[in-house]
Amino acid sequence: MLIDPFGRSITYLRISLTDRCNLRCAYCMPLSVGQWLPREDLLTADEIIRVAEAAASLGVSKIRFTGGEPLVRPDILEIVTRIAKIDGIQDVSLTTNAMLLENMAQPLADAGLKRINISLDTLNAEKFQRITRFGDFSRTWNGILAAEKAGLMPIKLNTVVVGGFNADELPALANLTLEHPWHVRFIELMPVGNQQDWGDDLPSGAERYVSVQKMHAYLAQLNLEPTETFPGNGPARTFRIPGAPGTVGFISPLGEHFCESCNRLRLTADGRLRACLLMDREISIREVLLNGGDLKALLQQAVDQKPQGHELDLHHYPEARRMSQIGG
Ligand code: 5AD
Ligand code: SF4
Repeated sequence: MLIDPFGRSITYLRISLTDRCNLRCAYCMPLSVGQWLPREDLLTADEIIRVAEAAASLGVSKIRFTGGEPLVRPDILEIVTRIAKIDGIQDVSLTTNAMLLENMAQPLADAGLKRINISLDTLNAEKFQRITRFGDFSRTWNGILAAEKAGLMPIKLNTVVVGGFNADELPALANLTLEHPWHVRFIELMPVGNQQDWGDDLPSGAERYVSVQKMHAYLAQLNLEPTETFPGNGPARTFRIPGAPGTVGFISPLGEHFCESCNRLRLTADGRLRACLLMDREISIREVLLNGGDLKALLQQAVDQKPQGHELDLHHYPEARRMSQIGG
């Protein structure tokens, strides 16, 4: 088992398959990205499988693929198929912007993917394009419907709440749960590589952050009632509109109760183990992958470095990478 110095068991590995993305969500990537990782720096499918096997032998049972955008990886179906077959891996999921999902949802389900999280910040096509730069609302929407049809359930929709942009849409987004058994999760904006200006058509720094407490105020008319949080719901606090088949969740990385139940370890696309999303400390596994060595020992070493909690309140922000290079 992978147990960290604070007694948390690490059973969940998030694997970033690429730093590339077909969109440029303002809170995640600047419009001009600079350099992508050179392709030869990305872990190969074989290498990813080796890490996942080592992790599974140490008790990891849940794997999520992230990016960038994991569906731009040409070998995504091969990777999902092989990971889903590893002994001990019970849950394989993926976080996507769904632009490429409509045609891939069924093949992904056939490959062994269990469920999917989709970024959806607005229901308005013009605003969708504004926040994602190259996105097309109808493609993402059709991707969500295709995921539902393929049985990739429960479908979770991630909304990063941005003041002056989509805070007024929270009731409309929450109301999706009346029609569909989806889990809509409102996420506080995290200060990771996105402190710069987002351009004239998006709000400026000071107004962007909206606390979970404020989100609740925007949703007051819906009479949300707390529900039992369900397994696999991670750090979300969950509510329901009375009678709705879906749920409304709130994720507050800057608030309390986020770190104490954290069971995650991350693998970046270029082969580094990162114990905390919000801290820059990493361990490279490249050398061991190339020359042989004890992968399991490296996994334990990374877990040993897991901090008790992030230090955003002390204004210690991660700076070495953007969100798209860590995988959210
Ligand atoms: N703050 C909060 N959430 C973010 N995500 C990406 N960047 C940020 C950020 N700065 C989330 C999005 C997306 C997932 C990949 O990560 O919700 O769904
Ligand atoms: Fe791409 Fe997702 Fe980042 Fe948007 S949030 S730019 S879709 S990786």
